[in-house]
Amino acid sequence: MSERCVLAYSGGLDTSVAIRWLQEQLGYEVVTLTADLGEAKDVDAVAARALRTGAVSAHVVDAKRIFIEHFCFPTLAAGALYEGVYPLATALARPLIAKLLVDVAREEGAVAVAHGCTGKGNDQVRFDVAVGALAPELRVVAPVRDWDMGRPQEIEYAARHGIDVPVTTDSPYSVDANLWGRSVECGVLEDPWAEPPADVFEWTQTDGASSDGVIEVGFESGTPTSLDGETLAPEELVARLNAVAGAHGVGRIDHVEDRLVGIKSREVYEAPAAVVLHMAHGALESLTLTRDLQLFKRHVADEWGRLVYDGLWFGALRAALEGFVRATQEHVSGSVRLRLGHGEARVTGRRAQRSLYQSDLATYDRTQDRFDHGAARGFIELFGLPLRTQTRVQGALDDAAPLPVQRRTRRRGDG
Ligand code: ARG
Repeated sequence: MSERCVLAYSGGLDTSVAIRWLQEQLGYEVVTLTADLGEAKDVDAVAARALRTGAVSAHVVDAKRIFIEHFCFPTLAAGALYEGVYPLATALARPLIAKLLVDVAREEGAVAVAHGCTGKGNDQVRFDVAVGALAPELRVVAPVRDWDMGRPQEIEYAARHGIDVPVTTDSPYSVDANLWGRSVECGVLEDPWAEPPADVFEWTQTDGASSDGVIEVGFESGTPTSLDGETLAPEELVARLNAVAGAHGVGRIDHVEDRLVGIKSREVYEAPAAVVLHMAHGALESLTLTRDLQLFKRHVADEWGRLVYDGLWFGALRAALEGFVRATQEHVSGSVRLRLGHGEARVTGRRAQRSLYQSDLATYDRTQDRFDHGAARGFIELFGLPLRTQTRVQGALDDAAPLPVQRRTRRRGDG
């Protein structure tokens, strides 16, 4: 009996050819796994194609809830965006798919798992590293990285082996999509100066239909739980927000990004829900976190973003940071109102049960004011003491010299 390999199967050309290649070249019996992460494809049709193409069994998993709840929302609570902009949709899906592959491999007694990543991207690293962390005993095979075929050769291979090549409109882009976002690369986008053509976008509209809209997002301890007052399951909330914010053109990101494998690459993302939720969550934190907590948490956000991007989801650092993030979110409950329109989302209001914003401290209305103005004098006296001491002892810095500006002075009595 030949050894088994579980292949992460999307139904596309690469992984369809991979089914046959794994059998033919490496002698594996192939089991496929297709995870539904909300990319709106017919997963049952995909599984049927896997069987037609030669898989001995084809698993389909609805992983939308787990994906949003256990991968995306914790990343949102962390405030993590890679290089400050990318909500990490593709990067977050990889460790989940790796875990699903490992689960099926164990159940099916497989000795290997396989994925369809190329040798140039981040995804191969994420899969390989995640599987290694979860199941070091499993081999990881990457047919597309190993075979020496371009697209035309693959199409030819498919024809030769009677593999029914998916009849997709041959997109000039490489696209990966799930509920948290859509990643687009290649084609004309490889020129970082070229404006992304309209056909890059599928989730975000910019035509006149996008009048202004107002939404309200509710959070409980840092997790989004409602939209416009209606409590929703995580995957439902994100799906609706993608539709609503996308209709207003919100969520486009155009970024030159630093890949883990050392190259810069131009990426275009559509992530309406993720963009709105990060904005809303940040607004709620501004009410509920102390200043020093907010400042420190930014470092954690950057670390989290980097480690997710780098495929280290199953590392000890993420687990430790998650403990920190969770501790920061206890009081991040409340709601945020945003105005959407013309490609922008703007926060226009926020409220929280445990808000640190205190009207009687913030107000400029003297009759309501509880802030001790007199105490400010003493506070400043001590706060400024080090600088006064510095100038007294060490002399003033250069910027104490008069600035070289043109000055005109008029004195009373001048003509
Ligand atoms: N650059 C992004 C990342 O590494 C997206 C990759 C998208 N993958 C794709 N096949 N288009 O997370």
